[in-house]
Amino acid sequence: MEPIRITRATTLKKRPKDSDLGFGKVFTDHMFVMDFQEEKGWYDPRVEPYAPFSLDPAAAVLHYAQSAFDGLKAFRGRDRRVRLFRPQKHLERMNTSAKRMCIPPLDPDLALKSLVTLVGIDRDWVPASVGHALYVRPTIVASEPFLGVRPAHSYIYFVILSPVGAYYPEGMNPVKILVVDTYVRAVEGGVGAVKTAGNYAASLLAAEEAKHAGYTQVLWLDGVHRKYLDEVGTMNIMVKIGDEIITPPLTGAILPGVTRDSALTLMREWGLRVSERQISIDEVREAAHRGTLDEVWGTGTAAVISPVGELAYKGERIAIHGGRIGGLTQRLYDAIVAIQYATAPDTRGWTVDV
Ligand code: COI
Repeated sequence: MEPIRITRATTLKKRPKDSDLGFGKVFTDHMFVMDFQEEKGWYDPRVEPYAPFSLDPAAAVLHYAQSAFDGLKAFRGRDRRVRLFRPQKHLERMNTSAKRMCIPPLDPDLALKSLVTLVGIDRDWVPASVGHALYVRPTIVASEPFLGVRPAHSYIYFVILSPVGAYYPEGMNPVKILVVDTYVRAVEGGVGAVKTAGNYAASLLAAEEAKHAGYTQVLWLDGVHRKYLDEVGTMNIMVKIGDEIITPPLTGAILPGVTRDSALTLMREWGLRVSERQISIDEVREAAHRGTLDEVWGTGTAAVISPVGELAYKGERIAIHGGRIGGLTQRLYDAIVAIQYATAPDTRGWTVDV
């Protein structure tokens, strides 16, 4: 493995207080960068002072969006030690995204080392208070200057770090979500299951319209029937009806969320009845009318476990759990957060020390 070159910043930035962070607005002192050229493969892994890139205006990513990224977090535990949460799972997904986008994959060991080395250098930026973390954004973009639709011959892999608080302004308070059937996010066979820039650009108009109507997010229905729940775009969705917990299956249109996987693992260990199956918005409505729709929440790295207090669909407002956090939602949040901040033992090998 090629050694990582390290160039340290000569002046360090002022770090904001945890309570002023918000999400994704502040970046640390360093970044990781590595280049790819067809003749050389991936080469020159390095940590550098955080700074803008110089990119040719013809760079393929700027025109045809050939890119793949992921998002994970580093936490400072109660014992003050810094840990990454499930980095291997995130990097595995990043390579799956890269493959779908015709981007050369990263060596998993070097990719993990890139995260551990960078977070290690900027470890003072890892917030200490619960609810705050260092968000880690590994990304690959096509850098070759050319106009034409084919995979590029050169790429840049980079990792940036951002100390963050809650993703939604509501924090842990339930969010209101608009169920859209006028736009679709993805269809099976498309790119809905991978983290690539275009998915997010394509979601903006629906999200803006939802925001103007007073909703925090959009719940996407499947692209074919516009009937079955897909995902929220910033998180996967889970619904508790009676004693069954239902989440849409990984059929290729939704993102295979790492927090989704963590929540499913925990709930199965707790002996709960968990189904990965299609669930229609009508089934959710009918359960609400019958009084059996117990809880709805989202799962995501940024969102963690986010309670949903209201779903709006075709003008009908479906209130969930009286607009309050449900017991299972809270239990999942507490269990995941306890592992992340090391107040509970990590018995599943989910964390990696930095
Ligand atoms: C994440 O949860 O990490 C994402 O990439 C989604 C975005 C809302 C930040």
